[in-house]
Amino acid sequence: MEKKIAQISDIHFGEKNFSQQLKDNLLNQLKEENPDLIIVSGDLTTNGYIHEYEKASEFVEELKSITDTYTIPGNHDARNVGLIHFERLIGPRKFIHVDKSGGFAIVGLDSSEPDINDGQIGLDQMNWLRKQMEKLPSDLCKIVTFHHHLLPIPQTGRERNILLDSGDLLRVFSECGVDFVLNGHKHVPNVWMIEKMVTINSGTATTRKLRGYTFPSHNQLIIRDNDIQVNLINTETGSKKEMANYSVRVEGEEYVICSYKHLLNNG
Ligand SMILES: [Fe+2]
Ligand SMILES: [Fe+2]
Repeated sequence: MEKKIAQISDIHFGEKNFSQQLKDNLLNQLKEENPDLIIVSGDLTTNGYIHEYEKASEFVEELKSITDTYTIPGNHDARNVGLIHFERLIGPRKFIHVDKSGGFAIVGLDSSEPDINDGQIGLDQMNWLRKQMEKLPSDLCKIVTFHHHLLPIPQTGRERNILLDSGDLLRVFSECGVDFVLNGHKHVPNVWMIEKMVTINSGTATTRKLRGYTFPSHNQLIIRDNDIQVNLINTETGSKKEMANYSVRVEGEEYVICSYKHLLNNG
């Protein structure tokens, strides 16, 4: 069994460095990739304005015409009371999707806070997450997504905006056996592994709001029975390179990552 997840992030309708061309490229690339699931990990807009959300909503409808799509908000979406538009035009701010045939489950959380760039998950969502995880069979690969990065990202200048409650969340993830975390926010792709858990950061797919030599990109996860491959796809050129791969298996009843290779060099 092979399942493909496209992780895209930081679309930023309304941003001066947003590119219509990159958006068209992205949609064409996704149609070609034909993923089973699309995850949008936040920052659909720039200031949370309704006119930005209207464009974002059209975009999400286009994604849904390709395959199942889930979207969670980022810090920009929560500006100017933007989350009321998010809930009306985009959808719920958290979700759970279980794919037993694909051997994985993915939970989305809202890390945004009104009008500030800092993020946190908060006790209520952590408790909700624990309850969802308890209901899942332990032999599934468990993935969690939210906008702010859980761990610092190299080549992003002065560190800020790690989740305010990242320590507590790390503990919850470790106790719940979370295998993969998918984040956005910094516009820089990256992979880290800590406590047998992988965090994968996605770049910005549709803007040239870029740091250093990074390029507009999105990530692709290919989930197979014995391995998971992560590819980085350049939205400008369409070129694809392997960013990481993980050999996985069910040990006893538990899904575990046995070994890994990280191949990304941010330069
Ligand atoms: Fe962003
Ligand atoms: Fe952000």
